[in-house]
This record gives sequence, structure tokens and C-alpha cells, in this order.
Amino acid sequence: MQYLKLNDGTEIPQFGLGVFMVPDGDKTYNAVKDALQIGIRHIDTAHAYQNERSVGRAVKDSGIPREEIWITTKLWPSEYGKGKTSDGIDKMLKRLDTDYIDLLLLHQQFGDYIGAWSDMQKAVKSGKVKSIGLSNFESERLEEVLNFAEIKPSILQVECHPYYQQNALKKRLAPYGIKLESWYPIGHGDKALLNEPVLKQIGKKYGKTSVQVILRWHIQEENIIFPKSTNPVHIKENFNIFDFKLTEEDMNKIRALDKNERYFKMTLEEQERNLGRWKPED
Ligand SMILES: NC(=O)c1ccc[n+]([C@@H]2O[C@H](COP(=O)([O-])OP(=O)(O)OC[C@H]3O[C@@H](n4cnc5c(N)ncnc54)[C@H](OP(=O)(O)O)[C@@H]3O)[C@@H](O)[C@H]2O)c1
Repeated sequence: MQYLKLNDGTEIPQFGLGVFMVPDGDKTYNAVKDALQIGIRHIDTAHAYQNERSVGRAVKDSGIPREEIWITTKLWPSEYGKGKTSDGIDKMLKRLDTDYIDLLLLHQQFGDYIGAWSDMQKAVKSGKVKSIGLSNFESERLEEVLNFAEIKPSILQVECHPYYQQNALKKRLAPYGIKLESWYPIGHGDKALLNEPVLKQIGKKYGKTSVQVILRWHIQEENIIFPKSTNPVHIKENFNIFDFKLTEEDMNKIRALDKNERYFKMTLEEQERNLGRWKPED
């Protein structure tokens, strides 16, 4: 397992398991248990995924000391605001059945994110949260939080994969030492991406699949990744990327796939209208 040092001094496992769209209950529980069993030590969930309880249960039942596992979760805009966010964090700790959260993110760039950030800073000071960061803050709201923040975000989680490599955003993050986390790291499983001939050619050299080549590319680009899978064979395959290294020539071939094109095309207005699509949990 490789770790990256964050701007707050903590060390995050660069590879994890994401559980977006995985139903609460056996599906999430088994995926997290399978991942932990093969040595993965980082789980990425969110209140909005509505599976924090199963993540917490799998972590507990794994028997692995809590401090060896990195748990990231995310607050939804309905819980943003001074006081309100502190309550939201306490509820998360209960759902996850843990004393602290390793990384807490603001999931979306809407609502009273400044009030929420104040409460998140308090949670860091009281030990309920170790690191704080943002997700999907790609507009000028990123700089607004940076200007306000006493504790700077350590992470920005955004869509990032070979078709959308986020080079401009990385330049904005560099002065603050903020690390980029990639969502849709393998394009949400998009067949066009996974069948790219150049990825297959590179994979052939190392005896690796296109998915493994993409994930290895992320690792060498210093992106933090947590591909989602509920299939134990895929979970194993995805984690099996630390025994080979892409050459600079390979890296450049993958860099050349960048189309600066997202899969997720909803406008900010559409996203804002969609915020109430699920019912927050207790
Ligand atoms: N902050 C945000 O707004 C945001 C948004 C989206 C995602 N995320 C985070 O990022 C994580 C990853 O994103 P994602 O789950 O949407 O997309 P992803 O990891 O890019 O792709 C997941 C898809 O790829 C398939 N897959 C996984 N491993 C495979 C393999 N070895 N071979 C072939 N197919 C494979 C999965 O199916 P199987 O289950 O069948 O393997 C699933 O359909 C999420 O789980 C979540 O934690 C965050």
C-alpha cells in the first residue's frame, strides 16, 4: 500500500474502495469486508450513499484496528450551516459506529458551505475528524472556501480519468498542497474507455488489464483513487497494481487520451435543483 502525505501532516492510503450506488446491507458490507481482507485500508462513502451503517459494521467486524483503516465520508448540503453541521457530524459518527472520521468532505458546492466549514474546523479541533476537504468545488467557490478557511482543505475530490485529466484544476491546487481524489477513476466502467487500444497495448507488456493500467496511471499521477466494485474478482484485480511501473512513454500515451470531457454533464443549476432527491438519515 502506498500513502500520500496531506498538507495537514496526515498520511492517506492512495488506494481505496468506493461504495457509491452500492445498496446498504449485504452488498456494501461484503464489498468492504472483501476489500479489507485483501489489504485495502481506505473506504470512500457519503451520507448521500446511504450505506454508512454497513461500512461501519464491516470495519468493526473485520477485526482490523480502527487506526489502520481510513474512512472518508461526505456531508450533504441539507446539513450545511453553523451548528447544523456539528449535529450532522455527530449523526455520521453514530451511523459509522466510530469515534472519529479520517476525512470529511463537503459533498457539493451549494448551500451554506462557509457555515459548514466553521463546524468542520471545530470537529478537527475536538478530534471528531482528522482531515477536512471538498468535493466537486471546481468553480470560484473553491477559492472562496480557501480564503475563509483557517484550516485549509487537504483534499479536493472530483471527476478524473484519462478522458478528463484535470490538469488546470491541479495547477489551482498546487500552491495549497491540496491533493486530488479521482471519482469515476475508470470512467464509471465505460466500455469505450476500457477498450481503448492504447491501454490494451500497454497492458499486454505487463500482463495487466486496461483497468489496471488506468489505475496505475492514476497512482503515478499522484491521484488518490477508490474504484467501486462489488465483485470480489474486480476488487482483487483493481488492487493488484503495485507490482509494476509504467514508463514515461506509457504515461505520455495515456496523457494523450485527455479529451477534457466529463461523463457527468449536469449544469450547476440542474445539480442544485436535484439536491433534495433523497431523504437524509438520522
Ligand atoms: N464526490 C462525488 O460526487 C462522487 C461521485 C461519483 C463517485 N464518487 C466516488 O468515487 C468512487 C468511484 O466512482 P464510481 O463508482 O462511480 O466509478 P468507477 O469506480 O470509475 O467505476 C465503477 C464501475 O466499474 C466497474 N468495475 C470495477 N472494477 C472493474 C474491473 N476490474 N473490470 C471491469 N469493470 C470494473 C464496476 O462494476 P462491478 O461492481 O461489477 O465491478 C462499476 O460498474 C465511488 O464509489 C465513490 O466513492 C464520488
